[in-house]
Amino acid sequence: MSSDDLKKQAAARALELVTPGMRLGLGTGSTAKHFVDLLGARVAEGLDVLCVSTSEVTEAQARALSIPMSTLDATPELDLTIDGADEVDRELRLIKGGGAALLREKIVAAASARMVVIADDTKLVERLGRFPLPIEIVPFGMEATRRAVLAAMAGAGAAGDLVLRRKADGSVLVTDGGHWILDAHLGEIAEPESLSTALAAIPGVVEHGLFIGLADAAILAGAAGLTVLGR
Ligand code: A5P
Repeated sequence: MSSDDLKKQAAARALELVTPGMRLGLGTGSTAKHFVDLLGARVAEGLDVLCVSTSEVTEAQARALSIPMSTLDATPELDLTIDGADEVDRELRLIKGGGAALLREKIVAAASARMVVIADDTKLVERLGRFPLPIEIVPFGMEATRRAVLAAMAGAGAAGDLVLRRKADGSVLVTDGGHWILDAHLGEIAEPESLSTALAAIPGVVEHGLFIGLADAAILAGAAGLTVLGR
């Protein structure tokens, strides 16, 4: 079974958590895209939900499927957010932002009573950090912020390179919020909580891709079937 099939399986299992009348957060990425497709089919059959997206890409997909959409301003409390992840550990700590949507993803997850991660089981790790940690920064003063991030990383025992994310054409990638992303190649994050706190304290850092205490469950699809962490 392909990785994409596994992602779809996880998405289909998450769809079972959706009940009529729910206010949903819609994630971003290839796994969340499957969930939105499946949700769109249910909406076409008459399912009543109201959704908030975590990116312009997901917003466009959901609107094309005629899924009723709202905003966090109009609908500031959500029942459930379904989103993918780049890494998840057994304590349900995540790295997110491979698709550059981490800021809105974290805001939407924090506004949700429940967040459930969907992924293929290659995303499950014993220690976070093999996937480069995205750190969303304000373009102003980028070099000063970069140095502050390096110092914060060292203070949290996490050394590694910082790479400004670019698009395939070489131009700097700009997020939906108008910011840039530094990807921290750490290999392993010994103390995710310490690093999260240290990064969050830097003025030029808008947000980072460590999601701690946000996910309630993870649905992981593998060759042997589905595994659910949390509840
Ligand atoms: C988007 O910014 C990310 O957080 C994605 O949710 C994450 O990269 C997982 O994406 P895939 O489902 O495509 O692996």
